[in-house]
Amino acid sequence: MSENGAPAGTGASGHPLAGARPALRFDIALPDLGGRRALVTGGNSGLGFETALRLAAAGAEVTITARSRQKGVDAASRLRALLQAAPDARGAGRAGEIRLASLDLADLRSIERFADDYSAAGHPLDLLVNNAGVMAVPRRTLTDDGFELQFGTNHLGHFAITGRLMPLLLRADAPRVVTLSSGAHWAGRLDFDDLQREHRYNAWAAYGQSKLANLVFAKEFARRSGALGWQITSVAAHPGFSRTNLQSSGPNLGRARPRRMLDRVTALPGFAQSAAEGALPALFAATTPDALGGDYFGPSGLLELSGLPGFAHVAKRAENERAARRLWAVSEELTGVLFPRD
Ligand SMILES: NC(=O)c1ccc[n+]([C@@H]2O[C@H](COP(=O)([O-])OP(=O)(O)OC[C@H]3O[C@@H](n4cnc5c(N)ncnc54)[C@H](OP(=O)(O)O)[C@@H]3O)[C@@H](O)[C@H]2O)c1
Repeated sequence: MSENGAPAGTGASGHPLAGARPALRFDIALPDLGGRRALVTGGNSGLGFETALRLAAAGAEVTITARSRQKGVDAASRLRALLQAAPDARGAGRAGEIRLASLDLADLRSIERFADDYSAAGHPLDLLVNNAGVMAVPRRTLTDDGFELQFGTNHLGHFAITGRLMPLLLRADAPRVVTLSSGAHWAGRLDFDDLQREHRYNAWAAYGQSKLANLVFAKEFARRSGALGWQITSVAAHPGFSRTNLQSSGPNLGRARPRRMLDRVTALPGFAQSAAEGALPALFAATTPDALGGDYFGPSGLLELSGLPGFAHVAKRAENERAARRLWAVSEELTGVLFPRD
């Protein structure tokens, strides 16, 4: 470990996916995850895809969720092909399995259906990565349940899925939940008088609120886990600035003519990191044995935009325990999903 808690970097040689993927500029080594079950929301794209790939290459059985059946099927077959093509993925045939499930986080019924199916066999869940997200939707848009799309998907959807999977998490030996936040949490405010942004909508303010809510949730989850003895390690991570579909999907939602400005910024040399590099903080958060509940990880380079994972800076607002308890209560009320009380 380096001074800021970052792991020692590993070179490209010895990488479990060597030969199947372009080498990263920096990397971390993952422990053997054989026998572990992981679930990554939004695993068909960007960081979720890369996170699922690395977890499976380290031996975990990984379920990716996708809201689009076709995108999910394509991603699952790409993941399986990459794992097969990687001669060192824990030795031929020893990489973990990739599974696919349908989940729309903007629809509470979809979340309930998914959780019922996924829980049917009663297998413990070792790792949940609350990764899916949508950013900077230009016009106020609602989920199927009438929530503002970013707050509804990024926060309430993950709150509900985590709550519904609690029985499986509680059954695991050392369960962990990683929730993706963002540098955008610094600009976020939890407006309890207008969480759904009915009165004043701004695309970035709504995204910032949802990402602050992700971090507040992760920290409150950790406090409750400690107080109630759940023994679930809840941590958060952010990917810095990474080239994914995030920069085009949300900002172009509802636009007849797509705008590509953010895409162009991510393409500037040296500005953004690749999705594979951007997945490292979440992977570190998911696997470092040194993580404590409530920790927040991100890239350790300039302005936390890129680099090896380390501890990330947290806005003071994200540490407000009163606001966290309030957000928790409102989220239970809005989703109808109750976490255990003891
Ligand atoms: N990229 C960055 O620089 C950056 C920076 C800070 C934080 N983050 C966070 O990182 C996470 C992953 O984003 P990414 O950059 O990998 O973006 P991405 O490539 O756009 O992937 C986002 C994933 O979320 C899924 N998703 C969106 N709405 C959903 C819904 N209603 N139900 C289920 N899944 C849904 C997407 O599905 P579709 O493919 O169907 O759209 C996709 O699989 C997000 O939480 C984001 O806020 C990213």
